[in-house]
Amino acid sequence: MYFIFALLGETLLLPLLVAAHDPTNTVHLSPSRHAPPDASNAVAKDFISLSIAIHWFQDYTRQEQGLHPNTFSRNLLQSLADSTSLPPQIRIGGTSADRTTYVPSQEEPILTVSGDNGIPLNVTLGPKWFHQCFDHSNFPRGMKFTFDLPLVRNDSLALNNTLTGAGWALEAIGKDRFVAFEIGNEEDLYTSQGVVPSSWSVKDYVERWKTFSRAVQEKILSPAGFEARKKWFQGLVFAGLGNNPAWTTKTAFDAGVDEDGFLSSVSLHNYPVGSAPWVSLGRTFMNHAAIVANLSQVNDDIALLQSSKSTRDIDFILGETNIDFVNLNMNQFEGVLGSALWTIDYILYGAFLNIKRMNLHQGTTFGYAAWQPVPVNGIQPQVRAPFYGLKFAAEALGGHQEPTQIVPLDAGQSHLSAYAIYESSRLARVAIINFLEWNATRIDGPRPISEIEINLGRSTRVVRTRTLTAPAGASADNDITFGGVMWNFTTRGLPVRAPNVEGERTVSVGRDGIAKVHVGASEALLVSI
Ligand SMILES: *[C@@H]1O[C@H](CO)[C@@H](O)[C@H](O)[C@H]1NC(C)=O
Ligand SMILES: *[C@@H]1O[C@H](CO)[C@@H](O)[C@H](O)[C@H]1NC(C)=O
Ligand SMILES: *[C@@H]1O[C@H](CO)[C@@H](O)[C@H](O)[C@H]1NC(C)=O
Ligand SMILES: *[C@@H]1O[C@H](CO)[C@@H](O)[C@H](O)[C@H]1NC(C)=O
Ligand SMILES: *[C@@H]1O[C@H](CO)[C@@H](O)[C@H](O)[C@H]1NC(C)=O
Ligand SMILES: *[C@@H]1O[C@H](CO)[C@@H](O)[C@H](O)[C@H]1NC(C)=O
Repeated sequence: MYFIFALLGETLLLPLLVAAHDPTNTVHLSPSRHAPPDASNAVAKDFISLSIAIHWFQDYTRQEQGLHPNTFSRNLLQSLADSTSLPPQIRIGGTSADRTTYVPSQEEPILTVSGDNGIPLNVTLGPKWFHQCFDHSNFPRGMKFTFDLPLVRNDSLALNNTLTGAGWALEAIGKDRFVAFEIGNEEDLYTSQGVVPSSWSVKDYVERWKTFSRAVQEKILSPAGFEARKKWFQGLVFAGLGNNPAWTTKTAFDAGVDEDGFLSSVSLHNYPVGSAPWVSLGRTFMNHAAIVANLSQVNDDIALLQSSKSTRDIDFILGETNIDFVNLNMNQFEGVLGSALWTIDYILYGAFLNIKRMNLHQGTTFGYAAWQPVPVNGIQPQVRAPFYGLKFAAEALGGHQEPTQIVPLDAGQSHLSAYAIYESSRLARVAIINFLEWNATRIDGPRPISEIEINLGRSTRVVRTRTLTAPAGASADNDITFGGVMWNFTTRGLPVRAPNVEGERTVSVGRDGIAKVHVGASEALLVSI
C-alpha cells in the first residue's frame, strides 16, 4: 500500500487567462459574523450519507468476486470521513431489497435475475454475502448501517423470509454498527408495479408493516438485546415526496404507523425528475430555484413530526435520493461537473431545511454514482464527478465537534447560490456555487467569471479558497479538481495533487474588511475563514 498526500496550503497565482469579467457586475455577500436566528439547527456529522442498492452492495465493499475488501471504496469513504469527522452512514436497500429471498443453502453470496433500469427482478442472498459484505476490514472505523427488509411479498412464507434476513443482517452488522431496519421500499408504487391489488392504500401498508415490524422486534431484535423502547425502525420509505396526497407522513401517522412507538426516523425518497424530453443539465439541474422548490416539499413532513410530543424525536430523513430516477444512459446530465454542482447545492440546502440526513443513492452502473467500485463492461473502476460534489459539501459542512449551522446567502443573481457555515455560532466558511452553464467547446468564448466581494469585517486578515472546476466546463466527466486535488482509481482513491492546476489559494482581506474572490461559470468555491 502507498500513500500520496495532497499538497495543501500551496499558493499559486496563475494569471486568469482571458477573464470575461465585468467589473460593474460585482456581487456582494455580507454573511453575519455570528449565526443568525434563521440558521439551521446543528447539522449531523453524518448528514451526507449514502444509500446503496442491495444488489450492488458487494461491489462497493469487496473486490475480486467478493474475495477481498474493496480498498478503493474504503479510501473514498475515509476521505469523506476525514472531512466531517464521521463516516457517511450506509443504508442498504431499494426495490431490489424488497425483492430479496434469503437462502440458507445458497453457496454463492448473491444471485440475481436482471430487470429494467439496472434493477433486478429477483435477488437471492446466501449467508456468505452477509459475512463478506459487512466485514469490518471493508470500511473506515465508525461506519453505521440501516438495512432494508422485504415487505412486498404476501404469501405464507413471506414473514419467515423477512425474519431470516433480519437475523442474518443483525448478526453481521453487530450491535455497534446497527442503526435501524426498514421494511419495504416505495410502497406507494406497489399498485403501479402490479404487486398488490389496485385498492392498496396507506392503511394496508400500515397494517402489513405493523405485522412485520412486531415480528422482527419480538423474534429477532428483542432476543438480541435491542429493546423495543429504544426504537430500531426507519419507516415509510415512500417514493413520493408530497406528489401523492394519499401517501404522506401525515396519512401514515393518521393510519397509526407509529402505534407501537417503534419509529426512530421517517424516510422519504426524492428524485426531482426522470427522462422527460425537456430535461437539460443547465435548466433542470444547475438551477438553485428548482432545488429550493424540490426540497421545500419536506417542510410539511418536518413540521408535522415537530408538531406533537409523541413524534418530536423522530428524525426526518431523505433515505434514498439523487439527481434523477433514471439510472442509465443519462451521461449527458449525470456524472458531470454540472451535476456535482447540483449535488453540493442539494446537500447544503437540505442541511439548511433541517433534514436530519440525506442518503445519496449509489449503484455500480448508475449514471449518478459517485464512484464505480469494480471493473464493469471492460471499464476500470473510477471516481466520478458526483464524488467531487460529496467531497466539496463535506468540506463545507466540516467536522467541528460543537454545533455547525448553515444559512443561505442572497447573492442577488439567480445563477449564484451561496451559504454561510457557522461553527459554535462563528462564521467559519462561505460556499459559492456558480450555476452558469459553460462548456469549453461552446462558441461563446472564454469562461465568464463572477467577482464576489465578501464582507468579513476587519478582524479577518486572510481567507483560504479552494475551487471545484474542470477545464472542459459543465459537461466535463474527467480532469475535475477541487483545490487542485484529484481522487483517482490509479491511486486507489487517495488524493493526488494535479499538476498544472491552481491549488489552495490565500486571499488577503482588505482594510475595508472585504475579501475579493472569483468563481467561474460552472464552478464552486469554498472560502475558509
Ligand atoms: C426469486 O427467487 C426465489 C428463490 O430462488 C424463488 O423462490 C422465487 O420464486 C423467485 N421469484 C421470482 C419473482 O422469480
Ligand atoms: C423459517 O421457516 C423454517 C422452516 O419452517 C424454519 O426452520 C425457520 O426457523 C424459520 N425462520 C425464522 C427466522 O423464523
Ligand atoms: C394477500 O394475500 C391474500 C391471500 O392470497 C389476498 O386475499 C390479499 O388480497 C392479498 N393482499 C394484498 C394487499 O396483496
Ligand atoms: C423539482 O425539480 C424539477 C427539475 O428542475 C422540476 O421540474 C420540478 O418541478 C420540481 N418539483 C417541485 C415540486 O418543485
Ligand atoms: C456542452 O457540451 C456537451 C458535450 O461536450 C453537450 O452535450 C452540451 O449540449 C453542451 N452544452 C451547452 C450548453 O453547450
Ligand atoms: C487520474 O486519472 C486519470 C484517469 O485515469 C488520468 O488521466 C490522470 O492522469 C490521473 N491523474 C493523476 C494525477 O494520477
